[in-house]
Amino acid sequence: MAENNIYPVFDKMLGRGDREALLKQHGIVLWFTGLSGSGKSTLAIALERELFKSGFVCRLLDGDNIRTGINNNLGFSEADRIENIRRIAEVAKLFADSGIVTLASFISPTKEIRSMAENIIGKDDFTEIYVSTPLEICEKRDVKGLYKKARKGEIKDFTGISAPFEAPESPAISIDTSKATLEECVKMLKNKIIEKISY
Ligand code: ADX
Repeated sequence: MAENNIYPVFDKMLGRGDREALLKQHGIVLWFTGLSGSGKSTLAIALERELFKSGFVCRLLDGDNIRTGINNNLGFSEADRIENIRRIAEVAKLFADSGIVTLASFISPTKEIRSMAENIIGKDDFTEIYVSTPLEICEKRDVKGLYKKARKGEIKDFTGISAPFEAPESPAISIDTSKATLEECVKMLKNKIIEKISY
């Protein structure tokens, strides 16, 4: 390390276990992936509130928010999406290491991108949640009007239309928001993760 003049001090710092004991919970990253309009953010917002009500300290990281701050210099080319997710994964790792239940809601469209996130965060802390709502339904919802613009060619590289989305092969949890109510989805997610975060 000395050759680049960087001297990490990890060994002198308080550890994750100290913070988890204080908070009486375990840190984790819940990684929501899926098309724009699939319901990732709606689910993550509702789940965060539900967990918070049950006494868990949570932190939601969301695509549209992060892209106005730390990642406001990035677009939607393949390289920029990789850099977007790399930074987010590093941030999510810091939160999880602080003992916080971290919800990350990003399209994260390719297997390569998600596996990079998993490698940065670490397998044990990474729970992949695939919001599998089909493209036809996301496009019909078109909450932000972006699919319409993408079809007209006004947005290039739009996921699902002019840029790829690769479905995860073996997500920890898969959920289609067109098949159940928000309440049912949140209940199911909470049941599946509560054991992992309880102290
Ligand atoms: S990711 O592909 O790099 O993971 P991210 O989740 O941060 O994407 O941002 C996705 C959000 O950006 C979408 O919900 C949408 O509101 C907006 N957006 C703007 N342009 C695009 C585009 N070309 N493709 C996908 N989403 C876009």
